[in-house]
Amino acid sequence: MSYKLEYQKSIEKPEEFWEEKAKGISWHKFPMTILSKDDNQNDRWFCDGELNTSYLALDHHVINGRGDQLALIYDSPVTNSIRKITYRALLDEVACFAGVLKAEGIEKGDRVIVYMPMIPEAVVGMLACARLGAIHSVVFGGFAAKELASRIDDSEPKMILSASCGIEVEKIIPYKPLVDEARSFAKHKVKHSIVLQREQCLADLDEGEMDWKETINATTAEPADAVVLSSIDPLYILYTSGTTGKPKGVVRDNGGHAVALKYSMEAVYGVKPGDVFWAASDVGWVVGHSYIVYAPLLLGCTSILFEGKPVRTPDAGTFWRVIQDHKVEVFFTAPTGFRAIRKEDPDSRLLEKYDISSLRTLFVAGERTDPSTYEWLKKILKIPVIDHWWQTETGWPMASILKGLDDFETKAGSANFAVPGYDIKILSENHEILGHGEIGDVVVKLPLPPGCLPTVWGDHSRYLDAYVHQHPGFFLTGDGGFFDEDGYLFIMGRTDDVINVAGHRLSTGEMEEIVAAHDAIAECAVVGIEDKEKGQVPIGLLILKDGVNTPPEQLQSELVAMVRKEIGAFANFRKTIVTQRLPKTRSGKILRKIIRKIADHQAYDFPATIDDPEVLGEIEQVLNDAGIGLPTS
Ligand code: COA
Ligand code: AMP
Repeated sequence: MSYKLEYQKSIEKPEEFWEEKAKGISWHKFPMTILSKDDNQNDRWFCDGELNTSYLALDHHVINGRGDQLALIYDSPVTNSIRKITYRALLDEVACFAGVLKAEGIEKGDRVIVYMPMIPEAVVGMLACARLGAIHSVVFGGFAAKELASRIDDSEPKMILSASCGIEVEKIIPYKPLVDEARSFAKHKVKHSIVLQREQCLADLDEGEMDWKETINATTAEPADAVVLSSIDPLYILYTSGTTGKPKGVVRDNGGHAVALKYSMEAVYGVKPGDVFWAASDVGWVVGHSYIVYAPLLLGCTSILFEGKPVRTPDAGTFWRVIQDHKVEVFFTAPTGFRAIRKEDPDSRLLEKYDISSLRTLFVAGERTDPSTYEWLKKILKIPVIDHWWQTETGWPMASILKGLDDFETKAGSANFAVPGYDIKILSENHEILGHGEIGDVVVKLPLPPGCLPTVWGDHSRYLDAYVHQHPGFFLTGDGGFFDEDGYLFIMGRTDDVINVAGHRLSTGEMEEIVAAHDAIAECAVVGIEDKEKGQVPIGLLILKDGVNTPPEQLQSELVAMVRKEIGAFANFRKTIVTQRLPKTRSGKILRKIIRKIADHQAYDFPATIDDPEVLGEIEQVLNDAGIGLPTS
């Protein structure tokens, strides 16, 4: 079916459309009810269906003759190792580890935190939880102890799965001290913990903490079978940054997720079972959940698990080497990685060393692909480069070129077309639907398609406040943008306090809370400003308390250290600027958007509600003095 017909059907007859797609997976019990409302009056998909996601990702393929095909290829330039795991071997490993978890008392509905680097055991841990119906919550390894602690308190896990260390470029990050600190901060006390010892840095295990490999070797537990689950039982919780300091636990269910992800592999990415698919991200982010672990395995692909960076592991040719060595057919990563590669290898000399003829399509997401990087990629790769748009909340793309349906041309700077299932509209502040070329809030008409979040863990009112109340009847994505006259969607950036730093989603509100807690600070604003390599980076504007005479450089290093300690180094909070005043509305609200526009040297409308317009000139001056906000040549 062509994209246009498929899209139309998905919007006009969603139940018929998704019932058909649901036939693509192997249910324990096929759902009789396709779309219904739950107790919160929320839309739910396939509520009376029964299945197990781990079964679909593993057992199903082994039973159907795919057992000897590679399921995972772990390629780790930081440890100089490669491990290839077939579907049969992965099933054995997952069933065995699930048996261990079960013997430790983990059962359906229990939460398990996974705080691990990009190693196969992270995938094993996730799939073992899914096998038992336990709800995993993977926390990105770059997060500091306080962030881990807040996720422990919110999800109240029975167990933490961890590793002794992660490996960054030329540095080892011991995880055990971070986990210990997080456990000491958290009010909720986690009873069980299993730690994978990596030879690069062994952890001293405390009493009651289990060594992953020793436990597996010594276990007498039976490998665990997949538990039959309801379609709407949660599969995982993934925390994501919002406007406040408290991250939101995005809940993903089993049935809608499996149906949507499998559909996306075929329709959006144009892949078939047996293809080699690589998403260079991290299992701690949604891209890792959806397109390193679940979607490729649900379809029966070979997925690459890459422990490294686009550059310096060992050089800017590492992506091309992986594509060549494993014959990657479809590749997906964040534009920021390519900007880093281009900076080091602008003439793509390193690409000439490798044969990447297996590669059919490149997908990019996580932030807008700037036209210059897009053109560079098209020039050097000579294959379709598709910018596509989605977010943790949806779990799969909302806009893209549908590679499996039609081969429409891409447009530089655009995330392309609405994906079937997503009725995307652009709304004004007053909820009017805007026309072509008009910028507004990018929203999705409810019901969201299968796979998207049904709620926020533990607090449905947070879901309603964050996503539904602003434009009743629509899901608020938090992005601003417009459709052009040809129906291409352009995402122009967040309309809230979320920023995207080197492909990592962060909250400036959270950084502001940390900065404001410093003794010297009377008031502050943290905003994300444009950065050539990382897309955006945060800066802090500070008003000091009367009588404070700490030198600005010292203050900056103290504040930078605080944000590194409380959120993590990957927040890239490196610059603070002292100012006398901040622009505010008459009711006292800081006009952060305008600060951002001044810093990015963009035009802005003079807000009618501004308290004192002269402050804008002062802000421009302090930013200019700091080398920010000047026109770029
Ligand atoms: N664990 C611990 N620390 C981490 C970390 C992790 N998983 N990830 C990043 N950090 C640290 C880095 O070591 C660095 O520390 P430093 O300030 O002490 O040197 C700091 O955070 C900043 O790291 P980063 O912003 O990643 O910069 P970089 O120069 O090391 O790398 C990129 C730049 C663009 C190559 C890298 O950020 C990247 O690959 N980004 C893509 C991320 C991605 O795939 N996101 C998913 C979207 S699909
Ligand atoms: P995350 O939840 O970490 O995946 O981040 C989602 C956010 O990243 C979106 O709300 C957008 O702001 C941004 N984003 C993701 N993909 C794109 C894209 N292709 N173009 C523009 N912004 C994007």
